[in-house]
Amino acid sequence: MEGADIIEVRDLEHTFNGIKAVRGITFSVRKGEIFSFLGPNGAGKSTTINILTTLLPPQTGMVQVAGYDVAREPDKVRKSIGIVFQDEVLDRDLTVWETMEFHGRLYSIPRGERRQRIADMLRVVELESKRDERTKNLSGGMKRRLEIARGLMTRPEVLFLDEPTSGLDPQTRIRMWDYIRQVNAAGTTIFLTTHYMEEADMLSDRISIIDHGRIVTTGTPDELKSSLGEDVVYLETVDDTKAREVLQGVGDIRSITDSLRGLSITISTDGSHCLPRIVERVRDAGIEISSVNLKKPTMDDVFVHYTGRELRDTGA
Ligand SMILES: Nc1ncnc2c1ncn2[C@@H]1O[C@H](COP(=O)(O)OP(=O)(O)O)[C@@H](O)[C@H]1O
Ligand SMILES: [Mg+2]
Repeated sequence: MEGADIIEVRDLEHTFNGIKAVRGITFSVRKGEIFSFLGPNGAGKSTTINILTTLLPPQTGMVQVAGYDVAREPDKVRKSIGIVFQDEVLDRDLTVWETMEFHGRLYSIPRGERRQRIADMLRVVELESKRDERTKNLSGGMKRRLEIARGLMTRPEVLFLDEPTSGLDPQTRIRMWDYIRQVNAAGTTIFLTTHYMEEADMLSDRISIIDHGRIVTTGTPDELKSSLGEDVVYLETVDDTKAREVLQGVGDIRSITDSLRGLSITISTDGSHCLPRIVERVRDAGIEISSVNLKKPTMDDVFVHYTGRELRDTGA
């Protein structure tokens, strides 16, 4: 059913030796979407993904994946999903084809069907020409693509990707996003974790920001950004003091402060509507404007707003 929930998690908690890694999270993923957990190292992303994929038994809370309860029907969950782990798990001495072949046998896919699927999947991730290469000779990006192809071989309803582009160079990362979008467009729901703002922003239909084992907010990238309601106009004039005076009382301006880029004017609504009025007011007062810039909130701003810190400060 389109738009139905394919993952449902309620009040999930997980404790390792008395340390709470996951502290009561509730969320759902709709069929067909790309859903991301965005958060720093240690936030609880892998722990959650490991419970959802049945690798860790759930301790408290309810988790359903593809209509099955992970505690009661882990086998059925496993048959409905594909997984790409955070750390590479490839047998270095197997070739690309053998890696796929082995996985297909593990899932008892009949021989003819298996061959067909391997060929199809290797085409999707553009590894056909590497089919007889040993995995130890592949680049980091190729290894990830092979792991994705392997994860997709069983035609899962949901593909789980734990930090799919971690450690890859920026160009390879962008190509990886293309593969993920392609897989999603072909009908697979994607659940991914990442600590890259841009990745969550570019790729996701919806994002949950996770910090210290808790979901702090959830929404589409646009919803999250506009929830801040803090567009900023940077205005440089020949007389900033006077400009600041004439802007007092202009509706929708929340605050005006000095910055390296001139006056920093925080707007409480959509800045693109307010910008012309600011420019007009300053010009009417005979103050020459040397530059004006509108800055919309970024995913970094969203993250700082909801977690109170920068992701790069967290050691991620
Ligand atoms: N097997 C484990 N044993 C003990 N502590 C763990 C284990 N796995 C994760 N943790 C701890 O749980 C917390 C969450 O870790 P994790 O889920 O791996 O976070 P993330 O994937 O967001 O980086 C961290 O404090 C981590 O040290
Ligand atoms: Mg992790």
